Amino acid sequence: MQMKSKIAALLIGLLLGSGSVVAEENLLEAMFTPLRQKEVNPVNNKLYKDECGSCHFAYQPGLLPPQSWEKLLNEKALADHFGENAELEKADLATIYDFVMANAADKSYYKRARKIANATEGIEAPLRITEVRYIKRKHHEIPDSMIKGNKDVKSLSYCDACHTQADKGVFDEDTVKIPNFPDWDD
Ligand code: HEC
Ligand code: HEC
Repeated sequence: MQMKSKIAALLIGLLLGSGSVVAEENLLEAMFTPLRQKEVNPVNNKLYKDECGSCHFAYQPGLLPPQSWEKLLNEKALADHFGENAELEKADLATIYDFVMANAADKSYYKRARKIANATEGIEAPLRITEVRYIKRKHHEIPDSMIKGNKDVKSLSYCDACHTQADKGVFDEDTVKIPNFPDWDD
């Protein structure tokens, strides 16, 4: 009996192949479409925008899973935040932490946040959005000359240098303009 069901499962797996995973994802996608928005939940917290938007644009919490934010948003980590001091007052840190956790990728029904949650599930949480597999894949064809070698971009971390509606949580490729490379998509 046990053997038979194992064989049955194996056969079903072989018949459907990896396509079954895709089909399931599409089905779920279709089921939740009315609940789901396309992009990333925009930032609606002024303190977060002010404190976390002064050196780079205020990344939407939906761009990382909670395990990543956990590593970033504590006193020790903020004292050496990618080589910068981004320390906050205790009360401000608590407010920002709560806002971010309540809107992290796993809490969001926005489509891209879901993709980020899926891409980081079950792996060591990345410290950077630019290290998330899904985000890396979306940018891997862009040559370095358009990013690091581009004086108006400098690093992939500056999302809003190219994504003209990043502050609204919109990253659609139709809204991309790469500074100094008007014909990047030719
Ligand atoms: C004093 C300047 C400064 C402040 C304030 C600051 N950051 Fe940063 N942050 C940086 C620098 C510098 C980097 C690295 C950029 C690079 O690699 O080009 C960075 C990177 C990041 C990244 C990773 C981006 C990537 O590459 O994917 C996240 C996430 C982040 N910051 C979140 C925050 C949050 C949340 C706050 C507010 C608590 C904050 N930052 C405040 C300077 C700052
Ligand atoms: C150098 C310019 C540049 C920077 C900086 C940049 N991107 Fe992009 N991004 C692009 C381009 C170009 C594409 C479209 C790639 C393609 O379709 O081949 C893209 C695609 C995307 C997509 C997929 C869009 C779609 O329609 O499927 C997402 C999501 C995204 N970027 C998020 C980010 C985030 C988040 C950051 C910052 C952490 C960032 N990008 C930084 C240029 C950039």
